[in-house]
Amino acid sequence: MDRVKGKVCLVTGAANGIGMATAQRLAAEGGKVVATDINPEGEKVVEEILDMGGDAVFQRQDVTDEKQWKRTLDNCLDRFGGLDVLVNNAGILLMKSLQETSLEEWNEIFRVNVTSIFLGTKLAFEPMRVRKGGSIVNLSSIYGLVGAPTAAAYEASKGAIRLFTKGAATEYAAHGIRVNSLHPGVINTPMAEHLLQDNDIKTAVLGPTLLGRAGTAEEIAGAALYLASDESSFVVGTEMIVDGGYTCN
Ligand SMILES: NC(=O)c1ccc[n+]([C@@H]2O[C@H](COP(=O)([O-])OP(=O)(O)OC[C@H]3O[C@@H](n4cnc5c(N)ncnc54)[C@H](O)[C@@H]3O)[C@@H](O)[C@H]2O)c1
Repeated sequence: MDRVKGKVCLVTGAANGIGMATAQRLAAEGGKVVATDINPEGEKVVEEILDMGGDAVFQRQDVTDEKQWKRTLDNCLDRFGGLDVLVNNAGILLMKSLQETSLEEWNEIFRVNVTSIFLGTKLAFEPMRVRKGGSIVNLSSIYGLVGAPTAAAYEASKGAIRLFTKGAATEYAAHGIRVNSLHPGVINTPMAEHLLQDNDIKTAVLGPTLLGRAGTAEEIAGAALYLASDESSFVVGTEMIVDGGYTCN
């Protein structure tokens, strides 16, 4: 119940899927949660957390916008007095062959998936340095580790997150700030549901997943909670894979 008790935890993309489950789980474990999303439905996630007796606030935020990052962090400091955990979760998927992918789509996926993480990781440094420590969890994917057809732009963005995380970890570790990447397999969220509804596509997408099923957002939230908490105090610059065995072989 108290695995992140009193820690101030900012979760982006918290209106849906993995971000929503992570915000809920961190709050259930005693965290003070700042849930942000471009989608105002995130307000409902916060209302549910408050109804359950948790502590949370919603902030509308487009993670590609530096000014909105600064405003979000200012509000976080005003409301909760600091920042201990940042889960850089917001992201978008593009399922298109390389030949069909336009330059605009390539730039957009890098803006939302990669530039956002650069901004969040950069701007979270100062409030975490002041607290003499913190944990940053960057959502990558199995597609930041291995390839699959019709996802080259997405894979490039998720691969960039993996190595950006390692670079940031080497700079931040001396300040007690741990930066790690989290690599989910196929997870049943709004992002992936269209792929899981058609049996043929589902079989292809699940591919070599040893457990033979998609994961749940709660299963990824459990891993994010571990990385956020002090239980992972010796875990830094690593890539945590939670994929039902997709990348095992
Ligand atoms: N679902 C999967 O199978 C899967 C697998 C591996 C990795 N991931 C990664 O996990 C993260 C969460 O995925 P999910 O499945 O929960 O997705 P989702 O689509 O269900 O939720 C993503 C959330 O991000 C928000 N968002 C999108 N663009 C934004 C922006 N510019 N600013 C702020 N918020 C924005 C959306 O509004 C949405 O609420 C993503 O980074 C995704 O790439 C997902």
